[in-house]
Amino acid sequence: MPSSTKAYNTMMKFVDQTGTGSIIDLGSGWGNFVIRIAKRNPQRQIVGYELSLLPWLTSTLLKKVLGIKNLTLHRQNFYNANLSGASVLVCYLYPEAMDRIKNKLISEKPNVDFLISNNFALPSWQSYKVIQLDDFYKSPIYLYKISKEEFESHH
Ligand SMILES: C[S@@+](CC[C@H](N)C(=O)[O-])C[C@H]1O[C@@H](n2cnc3c(N)ncnc32)[C@H](O)[C@@H]1O
Repeated sequence: MPSSTKAYNTMMKFVDQTGTGSIIDLGSGWGNFVIRIAKRNPQRQIVGYELSLLPWLTSTLLKKVLGIKNLTLHRQNFYNANLSGASVLVCYLYPEAMDRIKNKLISEKPNVDFLISNNFALPSWQSYKVIQLDDFYKSPIYLYKISKEEFESHH
C-alpha cells in the first residue's frame, strides 16, 4: 500500500532537512514516493529497492516516461543491499522489518545519517523528531539521526 499524501508531504518535509546526500527508499513499491523525491531533488541521487515484479516494472516505466535521471530502481531485496553510499533511508514497512533494519544498521554500520519512517518506529532507538499526522489514526512519521553513539549504545 502506498503512503497517503499527508504522509508523503510530512516525509518530504523531513527529507528537506537532510542536506544533499543520496537517498534510498527501502521498498519503493509502485514508485509513488521515490519519484516525488527524485523530481523535487534533482541534484540528489535517489535509489529504490523493490522485490515485487509488477510494482518495480511500473515504477521503472514511469521513471523512463517522465525522464527522471537521478533515480535508480533495483529489483532486489534491500536486506542484501549495500547501504553505505546513502545518506538517508526512507521506508514504509512493518514492525518486523524495522527490527531487521535496526540489526542491519548495527552490524554493518553504514555511513547513513538519517532514517525517515512512515508509521513504524525503530525499536528502542530515540527518534530525533516525530510528527503525528492530522488523520484518523494520528499516524506518526519518525526522523532518526543515525550516529556512531547510537550503534554503540545498542550493541
Ligand atoms: C507499504 S509499501 C511502501 C511503498 C513506498 N515506499 C511508499 O511509501 O509509498 C512497502 C513495499 O516494500 C516492499 N518490500 C518489503 N520487503 C522488501 C524487501 N526485503 N526488499 C525489497 N522490497 C521489499 C514491498 O514489496 C512493498 O512494495
